[in-house]
Amino acid sequence: MATFDVHVRPSGTSLAAAHQEILAGGRWQPIDWSGIGPFPEPVRLAGAASWTRRMVDEYRSTTLFSQLQTLLLLANLPLDVMGAMARVVADEVRHVQLCADAVTALGGAPSGAIEAESAYLLVDPAAGMRPQLLAAAMNLLCLGETVSARLIGATHQGTRCAPFKEVLRRLHADEVFHGEFGWQLVGLLLVDASPEERAALAAMLPTSLRQLEAVCTTYGDAPEELAEADRALGSLSVREHREAFHRAVDEAVLPRLEALGLPGREAWAGR
Ligand SMILES: [Fe+2]
Ligand SMILES: [Fe+2]
Repeated sequence: MATFDVHVRPSGTSLAAAHQEILAGGRWQPIDWSGIGPFPEPVRLAGAASWTRRMVDEYRSTTLFSQLQTLLLLANLPLDVMGAMARVVADEVRHVQLCADAVTALGGAPSGAIEAESAYLLVDPAAGMRPQLLAAAMNLLCLGETVSARLIGATHQGTRCAPFKEVLRRLHADEVFHGEFGWQLVGLLLVDASPEERAALAAMLPTSLRQLEAVCTTYGDAPEELAEADRALGSLSVREHREAFHRAVDEAVLPRLEALGLPGREAWAGR
């Protein structure tokens, strides 16, 4: 399967300094990593692996939202929407950096790879732009970011080691905004959507919700419960993760779908 690398190495050009300036000029605050650990070796390794997975996910968000930004431009949306979209992309770049720094703080080397097909927002130039934009905004932002915000929020609650908790606090605050951006964007697009476009979005929901559930509740051979030591660095047990996912669907996703006049509960029951 084709993959591409997650590059967090400095480029060696003057853009490395520009990257730092952009971080500093935006919402970047340095994390104080001093005084963490030492951790038992298995805890340190598990922590580094978990932050590496998070870094790869954040990088995938960066690639997908960069492409979504182009779709928004082509749909000729208002400037404040573009500004908010630009913030989402900048947030995700910052999240990759924060996660990479967490891996480094745990003695790991931040690197990873993304399956290429999961990093591309496939657009059919022959099909209409607005339906594709609606579908992407619903799947990536409304569903994906709303659930992600809840999962990161639940992880933040249980994390005790201060710098990791602070990283999760920042990620959570941004992801909440990303979800809200999605609901606002979809609401805006629905104002002048045709009945056919609205029906197509509604018809997509059972599949979208089924896929979201599959992604969020597939745990491989992860243990159902978690040792306290592993929790300190920012992890949820499988049980807690599953519960947080279902709470997110019940409390944050389905009511928002219904509020937009979309058949959320019916789609969830029929997924
Ligand atoms: Fe993120
Ligand atoms: Fe996000």
